[in-house]
Amino acid sequence: MERSDEDQKMPIQVDLKKGEKYYWCTCGKTADEPFCDGSHSGSEFLPLEFSVEKDRKAFLCTCKETKKPPFCDGSHEGDISYIMGELVKEK
Ligand code: FES
Repeated sequence: MERSDEDQKMPIQVDLKKGEKYYWCTCGKTADEPFCDGSHSGSEFLPLEFSVEKDRKAFLCTCKETKKPPFCDGSHEGDISYIMGELVKEK
């Protein structure tokens, strides 16, 4: 099954609370990005359960290309890499 292939999807900023369990959508079909709404039912995808160590804001991935799920790593920008901690877009 292919993931939803809509236009480029930007990360969504959320407030995460210590002690809460969150379920990040991995299929791209949810109507409640970045969280699972059960739309993956019947597919090969399952949501990713995660929690945080302390209350924090975070940018969660919606393009589903991140290498650090559920957090945005800039992959929605295309070919990128990090050089000495700086996010650099390859040409
Ligand atoms: S709706 Fe996408 S993983 Fe549940």
